[in-house]
Amino acid sequence: MYILLMGPPGAGKGTQAEKLINEFKIPHISTGDMFRAAVKQGTELGKEAKKYMDAGGLVPDVVTIGIVREGLAKPECANGFILDGFPRTEEQAVALDGILKDLGIKLTGVVNIVVPDAELVGRVTGRRICKACGATYHVSFNPSKVEDVCDKCGGNLYQRDDDKEATVKNRLEAYHSQTEPLIEYYKKQGVYKEINGLQAIDKVYADVKDSLAGNN
Ligand code: AP5
Ligand code: MG
Ligand code: ZN
Repeated sequence: MYILLMGPPGAGKGTQAEKLINEFKIPHISTGDMFRAAVKQGTELGKEAKKYMDAGGLVPDVVTIGIVREGLAKPECANGFILDGFPRTEEQAVALDGILKDLGIKLTGVVNIVVPDAELVGRVTGRRICKACGATYHVSFNPSKVEDVCDKCGGNLYQRDDDKEATVKNRLEAYHSQTEPLIEYYKKQGVYKEINGLQAIDKVYADVKDSLAGNN
């Protein structure tokens, strides 16, 4: 299964990816996670990416396309992958078409999780992530059993630097101006699927799987 997960900040891409990788045992390629790992390690890539991430803007295409090209060329991606948060611009989408063509891969589906802006700010500002294993929680919608402690591994939960309200507004703006137009791009390719992301997490997951099986 070669899946692309689309949707605005806080739509639930990471949450659904976590479920898909557990069930289908295929790699999760999240450009956001890759940039955050580089920031944590203090690499040149991390220093460059942080400038854009902190402002809620997009990291330049040339940088982003390079790391995805490298990621997808790994042998573990040959039998399937979940791309989360890439592409976000038309230039990235065109580059991805080229990368996949070179690898002889056809996308199974482009799944767009649709959630209105009004809902997204609360989702993003209430998000908490495990420092140790990366699991995602929400203080109200998906709380851990013990506050700030991961249910899965006992790690501490933290809030992402870019999950402050002011930054979220910029991220939403970047989404609407640069990423939303890709809906038309993928509709034309005949692989576009739309999911109502306002439902409970498990219902969204059921719909994601149905859409990939061609049932909606
Ligand atoms: P990235 O990390 O990709 O962030 P994003 O796209 O803004 O998306 P999020 O991770 O915030 O949301 P999500 O959809 O994964 O939601 P989640 O499942 O966590 O990118 C960060 C930055 O990196 C970008 O701003 C940019 O600077 C840079 N970048 C990354 N990719 C790039 C690219 N391709 N080009 C250029 N720059 C790039 O869920 C959110 C919360 O809601 C959680 O708390 C969760 O528990 C809760 N939740 C999930 N589903 C539900 C539900 N159904 N009901 C209620 N709550 C729910
Ligand atoms: Mg995410
Ligand atoms: Zn954990």
